[in-house]
Amino acid sequence: MGQLGCILSVGIILTTVVYCQRTGVRPRPKRPKVVTPPPVIEPTEPNHATTLPPPFPPGPPSVFPDCPRECTCPTIYPNALYCDSRNLRVVPIIPSRIHYLYLQNNFIDSLPEKAFRNATELRWINLDNNRISNKKVDKKVFDTLTSLLFLYMEKNRLEEVPSNLPSSLEQLRLAGNQISKIPSGAFSKLQNLTLLDLHRNKLTDRVLNKNTFKGLKSLMQLNLAHNSLRKMPPTIPKHIFQLYLDKNSIKEIPNGYFNNFHHLMFLRLNFNQLTDTGIPNGIFNVSSLLDLHLSHNKLNAIPSFNRKLEHLYLSHNHIEKINGTEICPYPVSKIDLLFNDLEKLPRLRYLRLDGNSLQQPVPMDIMMCFRLLRMIVL
Ligand SMILES: *[C@@H]1O[C@H](CO)[C@@H](O)[C@H](O)[C@H]1NC(C)=O
Ligand SMILES: *[C@@H]1O[C@H](CO)[C@@H](O)[C@H](O)[C@H]1NC(C)=O
Ligand SMILES: *[C@@H]1O[C@H](CO)[C@@H](O)[C@H](O)[C@H]1NC(C)=O
Ligand SMILES: *[C@@H]1O[C@H](CO)[C@@H](O)[C@H](O)[C@H]1NC(C)=O
Repeated sequence: MGQLGCILSVGIILTTVVYCQRTGVRPRPKRPKVVTPPPVIEPTEPNHATTLPPPFPPGPPSVFPDCPRECTCPTIYPNALYCDSRNLRVVPIIPSRIHYLYLQNNFIDSLPEKAFRNATELRWINLDNNRISNKKVDKKVFDTLTSLLFLYMEKNRLEEVPSNLPSSLEQLRLAGNQISKIPSGAFSKLQNLTLLDLHRNKLTDRVLNKNTFKGLKSLMQLNLAHNSLRKMPPTIPKHIFQLYLDKNSIKEIPNGYFNNFHHLMFLRLNFNQLTDTGIPNGIFNVSSLLDLHLSHNKLNAIPSFNRKLEHLYLSHNHIEKINGTEICPYPVSKIDLLFNDLEKLPRLRYLRLDGNSLQQPVPMDIMMCFRLLRMIVL
C-alpha cells in the first residue's frame, strides 16, 4: 500500500508539473526530471500467498495490554490465549503469563527459535492443522519450555518426529503427518509421557527398533494405527494399557509378545492381515485385557482369550464355525458350579461376528459358557 501511495503521489506531482507547463507562462524549455521508481520491496507474505485466505484484521484492544491483536485473551482465563482459526502465518508474540496456547487451524509453517521465547510457563500448545515442516522447526524452539505438558501437532507436514522435545511432556499428538522417521533418542527423555499418538503417518518396520520407545517409563497409550507396519513393533513399554495398531499390514504376533504386559486393557488390531497361523496359542490370554479388536483380518477360528475379556470384535474375518467348548475358558459343564461365584464367571458381554460365514443359531454351548453375554452380532 505504502509503495502504491508513493507511486501515486509521484504521478500526481508529474501531472501537476505537466499541467503547469501547459497553462503557465511559457517556461523555458527544460529537460524533464527523470524519476526512478522506488525499489520493489519483496512482499512479506509466503510464496503461495494467493492460495491463502487473507489474515483476519486485528481485533479490538484487549483488557490485557500484552494480548496479541490477532488473538483473544479472555478476561476470566488470564492464562489462556486463543489464536486458533485466524489465518495466521506466524506464531504471534506470546506473553509470558500464558499457560494454554491455542494456535490450531492456521497456516503457520515454521517454529523459529524465538517463537515461544518469553512464554516459559506454557503447559499446553495446540498447533493442530497448520503447515509446519521439520525444516522450519528450530532445534532450540522448545528449549525454554520446561513446564510443557501437552504438545499437539496433528495434521501438519512433519516428516519426522521433532527432536529436542521438552522432557516434561505428558501428551504428544503427531497424528496425520507424513512421519517416516524417528530420530534415535527422540523419546528417550520423555519419562512422563503417558500418551503418544502417531496414527496416520508413514511408519514402516524399518523405523522402529528395540530402543525407539525406550525411556517412556510412564507410557499408557500408544497409537500406531494407520501406518505401514508389517510386523508388531519390536519393543513396547510393558506397563502400557492401550495399544492401537489398526490399519497396518501385520501378519503375525510373535510368540510370547504380551508376556509381562500386566496392564494391557485395550488392544486393537482391526484391518490387518492376521491369520490363524499368525496367532500363537494363548497370545490373547492376557489377564488384564478387557477389549480386543480383531475385525477385518483373515482369521478362520476364534482365538482363545482370557476369562475377563468383556468385548470381542471379530467381524469380517473368515470364520465359519464357532465352538463354545473350545473358546470357553472352563469346561462348559463346570460353569454351573461357578454360577454363584460371579468373580469367576467368564466376563464376555459383547461379541461381534458379523461379516463372517456363520450360520444361525448361536450354538448352545456359547450361551452356556458366557452367561453374561448381552449381545452377539452375527
Ligand atoms: C520477549 O520479551 C521482551 C521484553 O518484554 C520483548 O522485548 C520481546 O519482544 C519478547 N520477545 C518475544 C519473541 O516474545
Ligand atoms: C515428571 O513428573 C513428576 C511428577 O509430577 C515431576 O516431579 C517431574 O519433575 C517430572 N519430570 C520432568 C522431567 O518434568
Ligand atoms: C491363561 O492364563 C491363565 C493365568 O493367567 C492360566 O491359568 C490359563 O491356563 C491360561 N490359559 C490358556 C489357554 O493359556
Ligand atoms: C467342539 O470342540 C470340541 C473339542 O475340540 C469337540 O469335541 C466338539 O465335537 C466340537 N463341537 C462341535 C459342534 O464341533
